[in-house]
Amino acid sequence: MKSDGQFFAVSPLMIFPETRGDFKIFLKSGDREVLYTQEMELFTEQHRKRLADNGVEDIYILANQRSAFERYMERHISFILDNPDLPVEERAQVFMDASNNAAREVFEDHLPKSLRLRKHHFERIQSLISQSLLFVSTEQALSKLSGLMSHDFKLYTHSIHCFIYLICLLSTYKLEDSTLLAAGMGAILHDLGKTALPRELLTTHPTQLKGMDMEAYRSHPVRGAAICSMVPLEHETLNCILMHHERMDSTGFPARAHSDSIPLVVRALSVVNAYDNLTTSRTMIRSMTPFQALNHMRDEMKGAFDKDVYKRLVMTLAGANIT
Ligand SMILES: [Fe+2]
Ligand SMILES: [Fe+2]
Repeated sequence: MKSDGQFFAVSPLMIFPETRGDFKIFLKSGDREVLYTQEMELFTEQHRKRLADNGVEDIYILANQRSAFERYMERHISFILDNPDLPVEERAQVFMDASNNAAREVFEDHLPKSLRLRKHHFERIQSLISQSLLFVSTEQALSKLSGLMSHDFKLYTHSIHCFIYLICLLSTYKLEDSTLLAAGMGAILHDLGKTALPRELLTTHPTQLKGMDMEAYRSHPVRGAAICSMVPLEHETLNCILMHHERMDSTGFPARAHSDSIPLVVRALSVVNAYDNLTTSRTMIRSMTPFQALNHMRDEMKGAFDKDVYKRLVMTLAGANIT
């Protein structure tokens, strides 16, 4: 979702016919936002047709109604993504649109403009992103993603954030495109196991969980791999799901793996995952600024991350030319 001060933009495909959302929808006319539908107004097929006929690519929602929009997505997205009556291409398009919205937000609000200016590099990143999204747009994967989006929409946007950071970070290494694509898919699916956990657990900060709750939380990488057991995945993707909480100093979970057995793509995912968790407020704990988060990772989580990967994340976020 692209944010624009007091509004954020979403694709018209994110508003589903015959549904009501507890938020207003605006259209842009010149520099102004004009009210299109009211809160709880029935959004009809005619509304959608009018938008399509007029070539409207973005509709706008008030930033302070973001959580109402997220609840709406949780309620309705599975009717689209899991609907066997809809062609898979149409469902994939809705998923791609939702993902492109979330990706655009990262590019516009969280990554330096200089990244876009290095045209050749940026075009490669964009092409990898489109290919990865296509890659996960299969019937089986869409149903898993539908589970992720309808369980907790914030968990899904977190996955897309991690995906974008990961592709940008890994683009600074000389890796095969196929490795990058498999890692990108791993980033999108890495927290899928959380859909097997109660939502209350996801709104509590992991450091505040105790006993059985902590055990359950720590089982999410293994649960994620189990949920994906019927989806054909590359080993890099599976590693990302299973190992993204492993740490370089062997303090991670589920296996307290040794650094030697943690592949580069997983080390990178573990860094961007921590960074997005610290900079985005999903629990009652306030989020940090990028500067605070990077300092926290360096000082308070000392030894947890691969130093070279961490350094490359800092340089990517600073817009340094490291390709
Ligand atoms: Fe996780
Ligand atoms: Fe995560």
